[in-house]
Amino acid sequence: MAKSEDIQNQNPTLEEGLFGSLPRENNCSGFDLLFYQGFWCPEIIVENVVSCQQHFQAHETDTILASFPKCGTTWLKALIFSVANRSKHPLIESPLLSANPHALVPSLEFQIYRKAPLFNLQDIPSPRILSTHLPYSALPASIKTNSKCKLVYICRNPLDQFISNWHFASSLQSKNHYSISLDEWSKKYCMSGITPFGPFWDHMLGYWKAGQENPGQILFLKYEDLKEDDVFYVKKLAEFLGVPFSTEEERDGMPEQISRLCSFENLKDLEVNKSGNYIDDHAPFNIDNKAFFRKAKVGDWSNYLSPSVAEALKKLIHDKFEGSGLTFKTS
Ligand code: A3P
Repeated sequence: MAKSEDIQNQNPTLEEGLFGSLPRENNCSGFDLLFYQGFWCPEIIVENVVSCQQHFQAHETDTILASFPKCGTTWLKALIFSVANRSKHPLIESPLLSANPHALVPSLEFQIYRKAPLFNLQDIPSPRILSTHLPYSALPASIKTNSKCKLVYICRNPLDQFISNWHFASSLQSKNHYSISLDEWSKKYCMSGITPFGPFWDHMLGYWKAGQENPGQILFLKYEDLKEDDVFYVKKLAEFLGVPFSTEEERDGMPEQISRLCSFENLKDLEVNKSGNYIDDHAPFNIDNKAFFRKAKVGDWSNYLSPSVAEALKKLIHDKFEGSGLTFKTS
């Protein structure tokens, strides 16, 4: 019998109109968003999401990197890849030196479960490292229930996420400039949670709660904490993934070397990340690798948001996260 993964390429034939009744928004991200299963799914991947949910079979040895967009996915891909593959590739010959992290850790819904997949699951060596922006509630069941696979989640202060997302969307829209200001966009879309894979509060709280209930399966990270001490988190990742650093590796400075290899300054200046493309010509749109490396600063929102919009967003963040135990520094 064919395994579910064998039908990775057969996206369901969706009846015209199956998604037609879903709430739809154009939030100026370059594509429409459909409110599907409780989150704002980019229309361009909604079929991929269905296919992934129906067919993906997690392996016990898989690592799934889950994130809300613009929260440090690229960085965490580089870190997890380096930690997990350090015995296969000496850091000096790391594939990261010639490939963008998104080409090494493929996304389930953007790259694997496409009609024309950019990666075949069967070709990905075990232990697999895969990524997703899907909310916890929309993950394929096998990740949540049938497997001992590991989930690493990263989120970020939503104020910085908004600004990062705004710039990223602008870079996708070079031909199609925004017709509304950043303040207007923040008020209209961010306050209502209408951004890709949003609302952000449901996304972050979904993984936060799941992580509290199942800390052995889910490691919950914040971008700001990694910025403060990434070497500490490199070691934590290694332990969580079941490949802790040996005394010799620690003595030889392996965690620090991984931190340097994956640093913003190092990755941003690599030729592949200055000039390459993230998705091939068959994709709905190409993304320049350089679009994933902007400033990497904590608190950059204060350079962009007006005081009144910043206050409104801070109040929203306070109200949405109050009582959950999940906090962000916003001042
Ligand atoms: P800014 O736009 O604030 O600069 P994602 O990878 O989820 O798309 O997130 C992109 C954000 O992570 C961008 O933030 C980007 O600059 C930052 N980033 C990319 N690589 C990084 C790295 N190696 N270290 C720290 N931040 C990084």
